[in-house]
Amino acid sequence: MHTKSFNLYINDKIPSFNKTIQVDSDKSISIRSFLIGSISQNISTVKNALESEDVLSAIFCLKKLGVKITKIKTGNYTIFGKGLGSLNIKKNSILNFGNSGTLARLLIGILSTTPNIEIKVTGDHSLNKRNMKQLIELMSKFGASFVPKNKFNFPLKLISSPLPIGVNFKAGKSAQLKSAVILGGLNSYGITKIIEDERSRDHTENMLIQNKHVIKIKTIKKKKIQIYGKKYLKPVKILVPNDPSSAAFFTALTLLKKNSSLRIKNVGLNPTRIGFYQLLKKHKAKIQFINLKKKNNESSGDILVQSSNIKPIKASKEYYVNSTDEYPILFIIAALTKGTSVFKGIAELANKESNRITEMQKILKQIGIKSISAKNELKIFGKGMIDASNKNIMVTNLGDHRICMSAFILAILTGAKTKIKNFDTVYTSSPSFLKIMRLLGAKFETFK
Ligand code: S3P
Repeated sequence: MHTKSFNLYINDKIPSFNKTIQVDSDKSISIRSFLIGSISQNISTVKNALESEDVLSAIFCLKKLGVKITKIKTGNYTIFGKGLGSLNIKKNSILNFGNSGTLARLLIGILSTTPNIEIKVTGDHSLNKRNMKQLIELMSKFGASFVPKNKFNFPLKLISSPLPIGVNFKAGKSAQLKSAVILGGLNSYGITKIIEDERSRDHTENMLIQNKHVIKIKTIKKKKIQIYGKKYLKPVKILVPNDPSSAAFFTALTLLKKNSSLRIKNVGLNPTRIGFYQLLKKHKAKIQFINLKKKNNESSGDILVQSSNIKPIKASKEYYVNSTDEYPILFIIAALTKGTSVFKGIAELANKESNRITEMQKILKQIGIKSISAKNELKIFGKGMIDASNKNIMVTNLGDHRICMSAFILAILTGAKTKIKNFDTVYTSSPSFLKIMRLLGAKFETFK
């Protein structure tokens, strides 16, 4: 929201390292803490919240919706909850979600069943390109409307439901859509019923589960969630673990760099978030989870990583949902591992902050790594660790933090002369990325 835009130039390989680091806090859990705290009763607290652009956008939007949020110190906040159905904002105001799909979908979930909301919703150039058709259709089932009709991307006008009634929903791969329906159901009459086809991340459920009169979850083969609407929510007290999706970049770097090891402290290890680590372990990556803990129904621990000789990756479609954000960096691992890697069931990557399939293919092509994408899968013909100091990589302004970080890792491993435009987009999820990279020994320059 406020970071000045800058470009990055990388021209050097990183030397080997043996270090302990702490990555940024979890983005998904941080955003949910502020949203759920705002619609709960009384005072909620969040500790170790991520202070990235996406989370700051959440705080900014909630303040605009009348919620008092005070910062105690870095990462620690008090939220004075307004209770269900009580967010309010002047007619025709603009709510800007910045780059954050999570904030957009979850907050629209809440607002669609909040009385008397009539606002314009929008985002940055990347978010405004993303398809919101499924969200719009789901919220319409609650009785909300979006103008113009048949337009499926922001900016849009949102008019909340005059009489929200619980819906039935078969949830697929998207945790954002599942969460939007759960949150919409909280302020609807009757019961909202969700059956999960795939076990997407469950932070929203974990944060609400203390309200036994509101949410019931049963799992017999498939997980069934029932939301009993129009009840009150108890305040939350959240200690946010660090982000396994941010840790994934440092894990990949360590695995691929010779004679290196890393300890990443206090990372969230919720089983719905660690597909990346499980997949790599299956392909001979030296990764261990130690010091395991559980707090607020969320697991966490330290990750130990060592340089490894990884086998070409065969990622069946079952891996998609629990490693959804890790594909760009998985593609880099595949490119620098000798042999053919195959990633199946990845069509949804085309509707992330950028089209993550085509954009990653463009980057790999620039250093001579072949890939073929067909329908729902991508094959990468990895070359093993290459020296690419005679090659150039240019990443244009995509507004996609995970592509920027993936290109960075590729550059410091291969020595390719790399320019990444608008690297500031990394501040949406991982404001400490460059600081930690410097600590590990990476060299880079910023330029305008
Ligand atoms: C998220 C869900 C995923 C993920 C995103 C965060 C969440 O999106 O890619 O970064 O916090 O619920 P989808 O729901 O679109 O898969």
